[in-house]
Amino acid sequence: MPESVSARFAELCDQRRRRTPLQHLTGIAHFRHLQLQVGPGVFVPRPETELLAGAVLTELSELSELADTDSTTKNDKARRPFVIDLCSGSGAISLSVATEFDRVDVLGVERESAALEWSLKNLEQCRLGESTVEFISEDATTIAKARPDLCGRADIVVTNPPYVPDSAVPRDPEVAEHDPAAALYGGDSGLEIPGLIISQAEQLLRPGGLFLMEHSEEQGEGARELLAATASLRHAATFQDYTGRDRYTAARREA
Ligand SMILES: C[S@@+](CC[C@H](N)C(=O)[O-])C[C@H]1O[C@@H](n2cnc3c(N)ncnc32)[C@H](O)[C@@H]1O
Repeated sequence: MPESVSARFAELCDQRRRRTPLQHLTGIAHFRHLQLQVGPGVFVPRPETELLAGAVLTELSELSELADTDSTTKNDKARRPFVIDLCSGSGAISLSVATEFDRVDVLGVERESAALEWSLKNLEQCRLGESTVEFISEDATTIAKARPDLCGRADIVVTNPPYVPDSAVPRDPEVAEHDPAAALYGGDSGLEIPGLIISQAEQLLRPGGLFLMEHSEEQGEGARELLAATASLRHAATFQDYTGRDRYTAARREA
C-alpha cells in the first residue's frame, strides 16, 4: 500500500475513533436502493426511515391499482400522484419514492440551506425516469400560508420532522455533535414542531389523502392525540420499526 494511502487510512480511523460518523468519512449513506451523498450540515438518514418511505410507496401502489380497476376514475388514471415531503433533509424519502415509483411528482420542503444543498446534489445523481422531484427552501411549519397553491393538492404528505425533546441531548457523539440541531430538536416535549407540521399537512392534503409522520418510540400516543385534535385527520394508527418499537403514525384526511 502506498505510504499516502496508509497515512490517509490511519487519519480516517482516527476520526472514526473520535466518533465522526462513518457516513461523513465515506461521504455516503445507504438508504433503500440509494447511495446518498452526506456530510456536515445534513442529517444522516436512518434505516427506520426506510419503512416510512415504504409506506408512501405502498399507498402509491394502492392508488394506482384503484385507478386501474375503477372505471369511474378513468380520469384519475391519467392524473399523476403528488407527494409532499416536509423536512426533506438529504432527500432520502423524496428520492426513494421517485426512483421506486414510476410516475409520481414529489416536492421536498427544507428550511436549512446546507441540507437543501445536499439534497440538490443527490437529485443530480438520481435517475428519475418519468417521475419528478423538486426541492424548495421553505419553512414546513408555515408552508400552507407561503404556498396556498399547494393546499388541497397532495395525495400523500410524509414527514420525518425534528422530534427529540430539547432537553434530551442524544448520548451518541455521532448524533449530538454531527447531526444538525435543526434536524433533531422538536421543542420542549419534542412534539411541538411535529404539531405545527401536522396542521400544515392537514391543509396540503386533498380529501382522502394520507399523512405519514415518523416519531420516537415514546411519541406514538402523543402523535395520535395531536391528529385527533385536528378538524379533518382521522383513523390515526401507529406502526413499528424493525425492532418492534413505535416509529411512525398515519392518518387520513376525511373525504
Ligand atoms: C430528522 S431530519 C429528516 C431528514 C430526511 N427527511 C430524512 O428522513 O433523513 C429533519 C429535517 O428537517 C429540517 N427542518 C427542521 N425544521 C424545519 C422547518 N421548520 N421547515 C423545514 N425543514 C425543517 C432539518 O433541517 C432536517 O433536514
